[in-house]
Amino acid sequence: MIPQKTLDWNPGDPEQAMSLPARYFYDEGIFRQEREKIFYPAWHAIAHESEFEEAGSYVVTDIFDQSVIVMRGPDGALRAFHNACQHRGNRLLHDRRGKTHAVIRCGYHSWCYNQDGTLRTAPRTERLKGFDKSKFGLKPVKLETMGLFDQLPAWNEATIGTLEERRAKLGDPARRSALRRDMDGSQRRTIAADMRRSDGEQGQVSMFKWDSTFIDDVHLDKNQHLRGKTVAQIAKEQGKHPVDALLDLAVEEDLKTEFSMQDFINNNEEAVGQILKHPLTLIGASDGGAHTKFLTLGRYPTHFLAHWVRDKQIMTLEEAHWRLSAMLGWAIGIRDRGWLREGMPADIVVYELEKLAVRPMETIKDLPDGDWRRVQKADGYNYLIVNGQVTFEDGKCTGVLPGKMLRSYDMAG
Ligand code: FES
Repeated sequence: MIPQKTLDWNPGDPEQAMSLPARYFYDEGIFRQEREKIFYPAWHAIAHESEFEEAGSYVVTDIFDQSVIVMRGPDGALRAFHNACQHRGNRLLHDRRGKTHAVIRCGYHSWCYNQDGTLRTAPRTERLKGFDKSKFGLKPVKLETMGLFDQLPAWNEATIGTLEERRAKLGDPARRSALRRDMDGSQRRTIAADMRRSDGEQGQVSMFKWDSTFIDDVHLDKNQHLRGKTVAQIAKEQGKHPVDALLDLAVEEDLKTEFSMQDFINNNEEAVGQILKHPLTLIGASDGGAHTKFLTLGRYPTHFLAHWVRDKQIMTLEEAHWRLSAMLGWAIGIRDRGWLREGMPADIVVYELEKLAVRPMETIKDLPDGDWRRVQKADGYNYLIVNGQVTFEDGKCTGVLPGKMLRSYDMAG
């Protein structure tokens, strides 16, 4: 707990409450307490399991000042260890990710560890009386895997393991009836839950709806004609249960097919409309844009203006602009943005309301190492102006970079 005396307000009185004072974001003492009491004991997401397809595949992560290796062992098990040699604590692996061949070798005095963390060889220790190699394995770190299917036992079992194991299990006809039963039960529970809830929020697996689960990309040429169709469509065309249609395709393509779910949360239009119109709702300040790998949540300003303001007319354009700019800036402590006034920084968006539209999601490879991410561009924007300079013209980047990171504590001086 942060000592009461460090708080500037009475947390028991919501009418007095402010957002966290700026120093809570940079005060060393508060950070130390958070690190010890919140971040170290918490779970840290390291990587997707597909990064550990083969024995010896590893990912190294730093949890503050501690380095941790997560590695697939020769027995198929996934383990985590401290990235420190048991001889003199030398850092063992330096690359972020990669694959070791048979052993992890310390560059200092050549102690070698097996891919399961046990000590294999330690030069000259054979002369040491009573040296017990089994006591000098890499120190384990608690590791768990979690998945979208954790709530469904048959799916959970079938989606864990190496690529070969998962492909075999998901293609196994003997497992299919349990997989169908799990999914059908989940969907029945979802529909019942949807009928009870007015906020449109749903659970994890319950988000699967076959008529809004799309085949986004396929691996084999022979399946190109399936792109853009829903699982419900291909199941009907093939006369199969949707689970079989989905899994037959995925297994045929070595689990490389990409599926996308659209509108899987917040899909109750009436409820969302009510939330947006509430005078205290902040439209934005979210993590839109944070999940670059799998989601394209950063499309919300275009969707809000085109769908909710232009088509549904839930508020005036003036109010919508104020909500997306000045109101938001004030709420997060950035007070000199969001106004068109002499002397203010000229951050301006010029668009044509009738042409505003969100384009389909696309996958591009522009991350370091040729890695991919998803993006969703928009039509209808004539100019994006940052600090008085045009950064985008008719959707094309001008290459000018006049922006800078804004932080609310800079405003507080
Ligand atoms: S520190 Fe690793 S072998 Fe000596």
